[in-house]
Amino acid sequence: MKTAQEIRSIFLRFFESKGHRIVPSAPIVVKNDPTLMFTNAGMNPFKDIFLGLRTADSPRVADTQKCLRVSGKHNDLEEVGHDTYHHTMFEMLGNWSFGDYYKTEAIAWAWELLTQRYELDPSRLYVTVFGGYTPENLASDEDAIAEWTKWIDTDRILPFGKKDNFWEMGETGPCGPCSEIHIDLRSEADRQLIDGKTLVNTGHPQVVEIWNLVFIQFNRKSDSSLEELPSKHVDTGMGFERLCMALQGKAATYDTDMFDPMKARLQELTNFPYTDADPLQQVALRVILDHIRALVFTIADGQIPSNTGAGYVVRRLLRRASRYAFANLNLTEPFLYSLVPIMAQSYQEIFPEVRGQQEFISRIIEEEEKSFLRKLDTGSTMFEEYLSGLQPGNLVDGAFAFKLYDTFGFPIDLTELMAREKGREVDMVAFQEHLEAQKNRSRNATETTTGDWVIVNEGEGMPRFYGYDTFSLKTVIRQYRTVKTAKLAIFQIVLDGTPFYAESGGQVGDKGVLTNGIETIGVIDTQRENDLIIHVVDHLPADAFGEWTAAVSVAARSATSSNHTATHLLHAALRQVLGTHVEQRGSLVSPDLLRFDFSHFAKVTDEELAMVEDIVNEKIADGIALQERRNVPIEDAKALGAMALFGEKYGDSVRVIIFDPAYSVELCGGTHVPNTRDIRLFKLVSEGSVAAGIRRVEALTAQGAIQFFESQYKTLQQVSELLKSPADVLKAVEDLSQRMKSLEKEVQEMTAGKIQQLKSELAASATEVKGVNLIRAQVALSTPDDLKQLSFELKKITSNTLIVLGAVIKDKPLLSVIVSDDLAETNKFHAGNLVKALAKEIKGGGGGQPFYATAGGSDASKLGDALAQVENLI
Ligand code: SER
Repeated sequence: MKTAQEIRSIFLRFFESKGHRIVPSAPIVVKNDPTLMFTNAGMNPFKDIFLGLRTADSPRVADTQKCLRVSGKHNDLEEVGHDTYHHTMFEMLGNWSFGDYYKTEAIAWAWELLTQRYELDPSRLYVTVFGGYTPENLASDEDAIAEWTKWIDTDRILPFGKKDNFWEMGETGPCGPCSEIHIDLRSEADRQLIDGKTLVNTGHPQVVEIWNLVFIQFNRKSDSSLEELPSKHVDTGMGFERLCMALQGKAATYDTDMFDPMKARLQELTNFPYTDADPLQQVALRVILDHIRALVFTIADGQIPSNTGAGYVVRRLLRRASRYAFANLNLTEPFLYSLVPIMAQSYQEIFPEVRGQQEFISRIIEEEEKSFLRKLDTGSTMFEEYLSGLQPGNLVDGAFAFKLYDTFGFPIDLTELMAREKGREVDMVAFQEHLEAQKNRSRNATETTTGDWVIVNEGEGMPRFYGYDTFSLKTVIRQYRTVKTAKLAIFQIVLDGTPFYAESGGQVGDKGVLTNGIETIGVIDTQRENDLIIHVVDHLPADAFGEWTAAVSVAARSATSSNHTATHLLHAALRQVLGTHVEQRGSLVSPDLLRFDFSHFAKVTDEELAMVEDIVNEKIADGIALQERRNVPIEDAKALGAMALFGEKYGDSVRVIIFDPAYSVELCGGTHVPNTRDIRLFKLVSEGSVAAGIRRVEALTAQGAIQFFESQYKTLQQVSELLKSPADVLKAVEDLSQRMKSLEKEVQEMTAGKIQQLKSELAASATEVKGVNLIRAQVALSTPDDLKQLSFELKKITSNTLIVLGAVIKDKPLLSVIVSDDLAETNKFHAGNLVKALAKEIKGGGGGQPFYATAGGSDASKLGDALAQVENLI
């Protein structure tokens, strides 16, 4: 039996032998494409090449791509676990032709690989082809049919419609007719009974698609029309897990050898082997086996769980795995994290990013598991309380079930399960209504419509960035469009050439202006969409044609560059002081400040921070000149000592930024100051934690740092003035605080003495009213606590006594009613009711227990009247 490793390698070697260049998988987390959160198909990284926006380095490429299908057009989440062959995260083996070979070779090679190299039984294979779609004038794919007839009987070539055989990346983007290869993995006996051909595309778990050959030739535009692309391309995607299932003769992808090491660990945890699991336990085990891979790869590529966007998707996956384990396997402690080292080992050759960050990924997952289990716990207690108060025969309220779902992360099936354990059912109709309402709310809030580009000048090749060398240049507008969101319209312009830096690598986008001498347009931000530089402008030009001057705001850019260079100096200093485990986890470089997140497991101490700051300031004083190297082959850059960041996509040639080859060498696309001296000053202003194992520091440089010191100095001066300009301010503040402490102590002692004195005086002042002793007085105390203390002390030394005290505290009247213990037992008085009645006089309210109650009010002048009411009430 071929192992998964071997199967993957045969694929890559096969296409290498057909002239393909083997490239590494792009990160699974997508950073520069607003239409995607995660890579959902092997072709995503090549989208711009298909659209003609970028030219390919090699016309033939093959790889295995980490994909995640949990959101948007391609979303398999709900199937995962419940069936035996869907995954959220999977590897897609793919070969690509960028305007090079087309259907003939794509089909012939697919057939050769499957039947000759992998030796799959041709009689088990079926192919589907696009049968045409009249409403869009799309003809059936006769070319593909003709190609397939060279290899396979015509009665196993099956035409299907647009839904199955016209592949589209998303609502917009590259698309085209496709031809899928399906395999029938059923037993001989079953195959005799039912013809496999009738089961293709019916959702049969043993008759499944393994490979999709897409013939990309259109772009789906936002008005949903199709536009012919300048060239025709091939995009194929083979589900690696399904291929392994077929080649290893397994009934489920989860039964292939790639899951064995994790299954062994799960067996340790559950005390039974996967094969002994009942159907519900099997679902849970598959969910875990699937989701842990999704979690590990997304975190490895830099997406940590959070409350919004892609981070929220990751969080939900983790919770889904955790709660299936909780509900179906009784795994109530964190355990997912313990699968990370096992994955690191399995994937060390093909995806070394997991091993490289093993400890970090485990910690993040463990922390998330802990916090989710805590939530489950709180939710469970709430649920139990709710159930105990629920009338017999009533359903669990849909709104309550929704609250558990929304606030405590309880999936509805868990709530149903727990309700059933107590013989209850959930009002599912009402729950669904709440869920729908929430979906609508978020849909309305996020809905955007992206207009098509309006082309002004065609231009040649990709628009170029000149901003490393100039702040301003003359250019023309290539295209513009409007993006409408729920709240506002955003205008976007692409220039032929631009000095504007588009947000990326943590550095914010440039601001500035575009002007043609008649009209001036403000550029409020510059963003990147794949390789396209997009200027976000405050309005669209009245006349877009003609020459424009694009000018970056120099002050903001210089401040940003200073912060960016300082970030590199900081990174190197942190590694010197804390150790080389420090790796960049995130960064923000803006004109106002720099923020740097990095892996480190303890708080950075004040001494360490001071050392880091000193090193950076020394490097600034050293006046180190920038050495910028463009178009360095990635291998050479690594040889120079540059570290590649996990989760970043690097091209074959990169830009290297060096500030002293022995100190700081980084791969970086950002802008920098020509000499470290230009930073002038570096000041760390905060240190804290962002997530388990990730620290964050913030710092200021240049004018920002100088202003910071000035404002600190000013505050100090003001403090000094307040203290009457002592020679030593610090000592004066210390003295002041000492003095304050001893005064506080004195006041406390005095108050205690006063309370004792009042106690004896008042005890002696009791008068009898209707057979009860009454102590009633307005006292001069200054806190509610003092009044309480006096009341309780009096209660201790009296019997058959009602004690009613009043005090004006910070201009507000306060009443206290307390009943001596023996009197309380008779239930003659209720302190709470009494104080409420009295409080009316002082325009207030209050309450408490039968033996003790207090009330506050707003009219201090009526406190005496209130106290005078006591007799009447008795
Ligand atoms: N883009 C196609 C798919 O994802 C083939 O790679 O199925």
